[in-house]
Amino acid sequence: MSLTTPFEKLSPKDFETCWRSPSNIAFVKYWGKKGHQIPANPSLSMTLKECFTETKVAFKKSDALSVELFLEGNREDRFAGKVKAYLESLITDIPWLNNLSLVINTKNTFPHGTGIASSASGMSAFALCLTDYLHSLTGEEQGDLFFKRASHLSRLASGSACRSVYGGFTTWGESDLPESSDKYATPFSVHPDLAHLKDSVLVISGVEKTVSSRSGHGRMNEHAFAEARFLQAKKDFNLMVSALKSGDVELMGNILENEALSLHAMMMTSPESYMLIRPNTLAAMEMIWAFRRETGLPLYFTLDAGPNLHLIYPEVFQHKIKTFISHELSPLTQKIIEDERGEGPVKC
Ligand code: DP6
Repeated sequence: MSLTTPFEKLSPKDFETCWRSPSNIAFVKYWGKKGHQIPANPSLSMTLKECFTETKVAFKKSDALSVELFLEGNREDRFAGKVKAYLESLITDIPWLNNLSLVINTKNTFPHGTGIASSASGMSAFALCLTDYLHSLTGEEQGDLFFKRASHLSRLASGSACRSVYGGFTTWGESDLPESSDKYATPFSVHPDLAHLKDSVLVISGVEKTVSSRSGHGRMNEHAFAEARFLQAKKDFNLMVSALKSGDVELMGNILENEALSLHAMMMTSPESYMLIRPNTLAAMEMIWAFRRETGLPLYFTLDAGPNLHLIYPEVFQHKIKTFISHELSPLTQKIIEDERGEGPVKC
């Protein structure tokens, strides 16, 4: 798929649009890149429902590229700089992007620093606005190609963002699945028993992480275990696909937890080692294992690049599991965010 055809030869016009795009939680992790935003292994995630970013963009013709960005009404020059750098990276393909001024108004439904990936929702919301703008110039409809382009453009801004463009479950990266690609994500259907999963996010610490994901990916380049990790992720990807397709909750949960622990093991053993989990992350993990042993209920955890736990379980067990979470686990947390599988982005 060409990103630039048929856009490169068009000329800009004034346009306004607004998109709401959710965050996602990876069940098989993207950790390590080949070249520019190409993942070292395939990943698979569940798109969330309540945690999303809403972004409104006004595109105007101008002599030079400029970006102004307001987060919850406050001017944020750092984020504006990131969006500008991203657009500059597209200029070789679409030269007239240089003749635009953008005013962006954006807000998140979740607080900053809660471990919810704001780059996934934020960058996919922006990429959807940009794709909407490009399609408005050609009059093309919002069909499959629209979302493929939006996913492609999201990936170039932040890898995990490309998976947020679709609801439900999504895969990204070349694999044995037909249609899989390193360039954009693809929606993935699962067994009805696993179609309604809950995600209770235990916010253990809201402190900003010391090492960014971008730098974490970079540290995989010189990592002693890199090749073994990429092989493990490919194997986990295939196992996760078969668990989700067949409705095998136990296999899904075992891979889910192993992926989270492997991700953090990579951080701890990278050339410049670092650790993002906190004592309460470990305490909560131990309690989840004990709860599972005692009750046999399918409650599993995963982690993003941070100390906060995402607790994943089928909706049918939510009553007993939520009681356990609020009685036993909440003292270890600063806050709990209740989320679940969502339907994907919407135009607002
Ligand atoms: C641990 O997508 O934030 O959440 O492409 O550099 O923007 P960049 O990285 P990013 O990495 C996310 C890593 C992860 C795992 C995942 O979501 O698959």
